[in-house]
Amino acid sequence: MKCKLSIVSLLLLSTVMLGMSTASFSSDDKSGFFSRILSSGKTPGVAPVANPQYLEECGSCHFPYQPGLLPERSWSKLMTGLEDHFAENAELPLEDANSITDYLIKNAADHANYKRSKKIMKSLHPNQLPLRVSKTPYFIKKHNELSRKMVQDNPKVGSISNCKACHTKAEKGSFSEREILIPGFGAWED
Ligand code: HEC
Ligand code: HEC
Repeated sequence: MKCKLSIVSLLLLSTVMLGMSTASFSSDDKSGFFSRILSSGKTPGVAPVANPQYLEECGSCHFPYQPGLLPERSWSKLMTGLEDHFAENAELPLEDANSITDYLIKNAADHANYKRSKKIMKSLHPNQLPLRVSKTPYFIKKHNELSRKMVQDNPKVGSISNCKACHTKAEKGSFSEREILIPGFGAWED
């Protein structure tokens, strides 16, 4: 009788503990404590792109800039001028443009809980409407030590908009200093 009781209480205890751990893991907090531990202990810079349509339509000419790199107002403006997109025609059928706009707005820097998104937003004046990530004050400040030789005159880079040329984990939304390799110049030492 005594023995049976302790087995029952053990079972009860483990059920309670299991319930507790699943509760914490299933929480919807994507940049939260548990997700950070699960993603090898690093807080990513911005949320990685999780939309195949966006990757296909907006990643064919250049790096698919993560929505968390620009505020909602910038994405809205960019998406309504695709026929004249940095001297290119990037026009899309209305339905595709609408669903991509939805995705961009929902995940824009002003709605993201990631460190780099917050820093980009903080650097912007409310009246500023940057159409380029590379025109945000935060970005400019972070890249002001790069020379022409490393960027425009570097055949493997060509443009500061070519994020992936230097940031080896850019596609994962991670831009940390130790992951930078400038083609022809090597690791970045500040
Ligand atoms: C037909 C080719 C093409 C397509 C498709 C395209 N773009 Fe671009 N995009 C460009 C060019 C060219 C530039 C300017 C790049 C440069 O200056 O180095 C650019 C630049 C950008 C920039 C600014 C990059 C910076 O400097 O910070 C953003 C943001 C951008 N595009 C978003 C998009 C989005 C969103 C889509 C999908 C709806 C898209 N692009 C599809 C050609 C394209
Ligand atoms: C020519 C190489 C190069 C290109 C291209 C480039 N970067 Fe950088 N990036 C750097 C260097 C160097 C730093 C400075 C690292 C430091 O000293 O903190 C940096 C810093 C950053 C940081 C801050 C990281 C931190 O931990 O402080 C972010 C975010 C970033 N870059 C995003 C981008 C994005 C987005 C693009 C494309 C639109 C881009 N970079 C294009 C070289 C580059």
